[in-house]
Amino acid sequence: MGFKITKNNKTRYESIDWNNLRFGVYFSDHIFISKYKDGKWDGGEIIPYGEMPMEPGLCTLHYGQTIFEGLKAFRRVDGNGANLFRADKNAQRLNRSASLVCIPEYDVPTLLDGMKELVKLDNKFIPKQKGQSLYLRPVVFGSGNFLGVTASQEYMLIVMTSPVASYYAAGLNPVKIMVSDDHVRAVKGGLGAAKTAANYAASLYAGMDAHKKGFSQVLWLDGVNRKDIDEVGAMNIMFLIDGELITPSLDKGTVLAGVTRDTVLTLAREWGMKVTERNISIDEVMDAYKAGKLQEAFGTGTAAVISPVGQLTYKGTDMIINDMKIGPVSQKFYDTITGIQYGEIEDKHNWNIHVTF
Ligand code: COI
Repeated sequence: MGFKITKNNKTRYESIDWNNLRFGVYFSDHIFISKYKDGKWDGGEIIPYGEMPMEPGLCTLHYGQTIFEGLKAFRRVDGNGANLFRADKNAQRLNRSASLVCIPEYDVPTLLDGMKELVKLDNKFIPKQKGQSLYLRPVVFGSGNFLGVTASQEYMLIVMTSPVASYYAAGLNPVKIMVSDDHVRAVKGGLGAAKTAANYAASLYAGMDAHKKGFSQVLWLDGVNRKDIDEVGAMNIMFLIDGELITPSLDKGTVLAGVTRDTVLTLAREWGMKVTERNISIDEVMDAYKAGKLQEAFGTGTAAVISPVGQLTYKGTDMIINDMKIGPVSQKFYDTITGIQYGEIEDKHNWNIHVTF
C-alpha cells in the first residue's frame, strides 16, 4: 500500500438518497488513478472524485479502446469491516480483457491494494442494508489524443466506487426475456470474451427493442447460426434441465468468463449437482420445455448476483419457467453467495478479501 492520498475537502455523502439508492447513480468521495506513459504504469494514487479535463481528440471516444470491471464490497454483519468479494478474479480478468484490445496489463497486487485502500478510505459509503453494497468500477482507457486507428501510447486506469442497491428494480423476482435472433452481441473471433465497451454498445439496440415489447432483457444467440446460446443481458446464463445445471462453455470466445458464473459452478459441484459447461442451443431449451424438463433458468453477474428467468420468448412461443416464480436452486445460490459475501456463511474458498477500518 502506501499510496499518495489527496483527500476530498467536501463529501458527497449528504447528497445521496439512501432510501432510493438504485444502481450506479451515486459516487463516493475518492478514486484510485494510475497512468501509463513511456511504456510503463506509475504506482497509482488516490484523489477526489470529480470532473476530468479531456480533449476532443481523446482516442477512446472515437475507437473505444477501453475495458472495465465490476466488483463489490459488502459491510460484514459482525460489524468488523467489509468483504471485497473475489477481487483477485476481477483483477486477473481485467488483464485478459486488456490483451484483447491491446491495452498494457496492470499489476494485479497494486490494483488490489488500490481498491482496498479506496474501500477503507470511503467506508462510510458502504451501505448498511442487506442486499446493498459498494460497487467498484475499475476502467482502463486509451488516454492519447489522435485520430489514427491505432493503439494508444498512453492509458489511464481509474477505480471509482458507487453505493448500490439491486441492479434490477425487480430484485430477485423472475424477469421476462426476449430471445433475439435479429441482433447479436458478439461473434467468434471478436471481443465477446472481453469486458469492453463495444459489447455493451452492441447490446443497446436489441435491449431497447426488448423493453418496448415488455421484456427486461435479451437472450443472445451465436452470431453465425443464431441457434447456440451465449449470454443473457449483461450476464451469463444457466439452465437447470432435468436436474443438470448447464451453461455455455467459455471456449467459444463469445462469452465473458463471469466471476459469479465461476462461483455458482464451484458451489454446484460441491453440492454434488451434475454440472455441464457446453454448447446449448435454443432448440434444446425449447425441447426441454415442451418435455416438461426445463426446471429453472437464471442469469449470473456481479451486479444482480442471480437473476431468475420467468419467461423466455422465442419466435412467438412463450416458455413460462417454474410458474414465473423463483426456483429453489436459484434461491439457494442467491442465499449462499450473499451469505458468504456479508460474512454470515463460512467462506471456505477464501473468496472474501477482508478490509478493516
Ligand atoms: C456486472 O454484473 O458487474 C456487470 O457487468 C453488469 C453491468 C455492466 C452493470
